[in-house]
Amino acid sequence: VRPADVAVADTLAYLRRALPPPPASVLEVGCGRSDLAARAQAIGYRVTAIDTDEAAVQYVRRTGVPAVHVDFHHHAGPPVDVVLFTRSLHHMPDLGAALEHARGLLTEGGRVVAEEFARELADRATATFVAGVEALLAAAGALEDGGGPEAPAADPWERWRVRHYPEGGHRLHEGGEMVRAVRARFRRVEVERCPYLYRQVGERLDETERGQRITQALADLERRLVESGSLRPVGIRIRAEG
Ligand SMILES: C[S@@+](CC[C@H](N)C(=O)[O-])C[C@H]1O[C@@H](n2cnc3c(N)ncnc32)[C@H](O)[C@@H]1O
Repeated sequence: VRPADVAVADTLAYLRRALPPPPASVLEVGCGRSDLAARAQAIGYRVTAIDTDEAAVQYVRRTGVPAVHVDFHHHAGPPVDVVLFTRSLHHMPDLGAALEHARGLLTEGGRVVAEEFARELADRATATFVAGVEALLAAAGALEDGGGPEAPAADPWERWRVRHYPEGGHRLHEGGEMVRAVRARFRRVEVERCPYLYRQVGERLDETERGQRITQALADLERRLVESGSLRPVGIRIRAEG
């Protein structure tokens, strides 16, 4: 039981809508230490996973999925029906080059699917929600880092800025940049917005049943707040073809 199971189930529900039916072939780019590839394989997809992180590759191999330790830009393999970026597209140094490479890996009629985070869509309410949740979880002893290195910043918005726009930090792409780069290269593009914050908090909780219960409760709360218009969705999902 892992808090990440909540996020994997949420992603899988999206993939059931966004992917062609099994046994389509899928290349998961930036798999991380996740069970998503194994879960997709279990419902009939032919999945290969890649990551530049050796530990992530070892983890995914142990879940029974062929995984390769390689930088996406250097990955060459048989054509696939889907190139799936799971929170990895924003890391690609050159979005255009990454998307061109993805296109080159696709079968005729194949598609690119990306599940991402659009940090620029956050506002004060987002930051206040996250800071409140972190404070409660830290007080309850569930969040051991107590809000991370940014916690000393008292103002939630300042904390959000420090965390997501670190000075001199690795340049991560914003959601809008990713959508524009995809639209410039594919004819049919669908973009959805979705809850995301629960993933960031959930991945810092213990890998216990309690951690999973908290993550599920947080995911449900975020979804309800998004649906009622009280909180902006900061997750984005992109599906591109043609
Ligand atoms: C934010 S993590 C997402 C992990 C996992 N997919 C998830 O959703 O929890 C981004 C992952 O992309 C990987 N990554 C970053 N750049 C990459 C590249 N050029 N080629 C392959 N993997 C890459 C990182 O090592 C990391 O595991």
